[in-house]
Amino acid sequence: MTRLVMVSNRVIDFNAAQQAGGVGVAIYNTLARQSGFWFGWDGQIEDTDSPEPKATTVGGHTTVTEPLTAADYNEYYLGYSNSVLWPVFHNRLDLAQFEAGYYSRYVEVNARFARHLAPLLEPDDVIWVHDYHLVPMAMELRKLGVENPIGFFLHIPVGPAQALLAIPENKEIARALGAYDLIGLQTQSDVRNLIDFLQQSVSGRLLPSGRIRVYETELDIGCFPVGIDSDDFAFGPGEAEALAAADTSDVHRIIGIDRLDYTKGLPQKFKAYGKFLEEFPEYRRRIVLSQFAPPTRESVEAYADIKAELESLAGSINGRFGELDWVPINYIHRTIPRSELRDIYRTSRVGWVTPLMDGMNLVAKEYVASQDPRDPGVLVLSKFAGSAEQLADAVLVNPYDLNDLAQCLKLALDMPLEERRARHEKLVTIVRKYDSKAWGSSYFAALVKAGQRRFGRSPKSSADMGRALERLKGSVKNGTPKDRLGANAGT
Ligand code: F6P
Repeated sequence: MTRLVMVSNRVIDFNAAQQAGGVGVAIYNTLARQSGFWFGWDGQIEDTDSPEPKATTVGGHTTVTEPLTAADYNEYYLGYSNSVLWPVFHNRLDLAQFEAGYYSRYVEVNARFARHLAPLLEPDDVIWVHDYHLVPMAMELRKLGVENPIGFFLHIPVGPAQALLAIPENKEIARALGAYDLIGLQTQSDVRNLIDFLQQSVSGRLLPSGRIRVYETELDIGCFPVGIDSDDFAFGPGEAEALAAADTSDVHRIIGIDRLDYTKGLPQKFKAYGKFLEEFPEYRRRIVLSQFAPPTRESVEAYADIKAELESLAGSINGRFGELDWVPINYIHRTIPRSELRDIYRTSRVGWVTPLMDGMNLVAKEYVASQDPRDPGVLVLSKFAGSAEQLADAVLVNPYDLNDLAQCLKLALDMPLEERRARHEKLVTIVRKYDSKAWGSSYFAALVKAGQRRFGRSPKSSADMGRALERLKGSVKNGTPKDRLGANAGT
């Protein structure tokens, strides 16, 4: 039987229902429809020389996880993944730290994961690797003789080739990408940038078939925008009415939910909010900005800097404009329980999503999916979020331009009901059509095809692969949709 083997750095503990962001939710939703297992890091750091994998099955879902050592955590996770690849792919070369030792540890952890995963694989398995932590994974599996289709999906954006070429190991990264059968990216612009990078770094050749040749291998690169499971945000009979009745406040909430990351444009957002209150005093006391910014990667210097900056901005705006009975910014440096998200989105007049650069941003889609179609709120979305390519009917904003941010906020707050409805209808149609099911099944189908092309033969049991694809497309799920995960920190 064809199994889907998901591999990602962080694996959600189904039991503890810990914090989950974009990748976790997307993988979870896809695996809930398909047999297989999820392999990766358990989130623990252990003082051991030889971490061992451990299989756990909860409610029919199997994970195989292992801890990282302190050195792995510092050099593979905080180091190469989050102080080199993350900033560079987000076009923040100024924040990249090219330290000796990071890259070799990065490859070592990938090689160890591959050694632990290979014996668990069966001939018909389809392997789907996620995100920048695991670029060398396919190459390491191939070295061990694994011939199954192996795909890679990058959840973060691909910055311009010039930025990627600044990585000292850019040729090794390009070669490692060439070991995959299929690379999935979030947007067309990411696809263009990656092809450009492969051409410049390792003289990658675009073939008439549309495939890319990297040294001796050929691979497919495509755009597969990740979606949400909109059922998670739907209201049951009577629920919406009860929520509306409980919401008696006449202060409009503007909602922001972003991990406290320098790519999310939070200082710009706070400054623009201060500017808005300054320029349009008639809105004071009538609005509140609720910004959730859960902590993340705190030991990386750039993340500590942004935390201090944001706390000071929130304090100064609240100090300047606040009243005894009105606080302009509700800044919450904690994770928000996933079970509460839908109601918070629904009772917020504006979804203010303004990253400087973002792979997709699922908060934007979740906000749209939660709205009341009769009286929907307005999504104000950064032009530089991957989701803007699909959600063109949002109010699109330049997150670097404080004036534009303030003006778009005004536009959203003043938008007449008819226009809000018209925009929402178009947005929600897209969000529902390109949901997590569509994402999982279209990627899986493309990966199976790409795997067949690599070896110039049919997979061992293509009927079985077909049945696996039907399961991914189908609506049969294991587990209840809501509260499958405990919390969401946004993408
Ligand atoms: O956007 C990339 C991503 O991997 C998200 O999927 C996830 O929400 C976030 O980064 C979490 O990062 P970390 O695993 O470093 O906490």
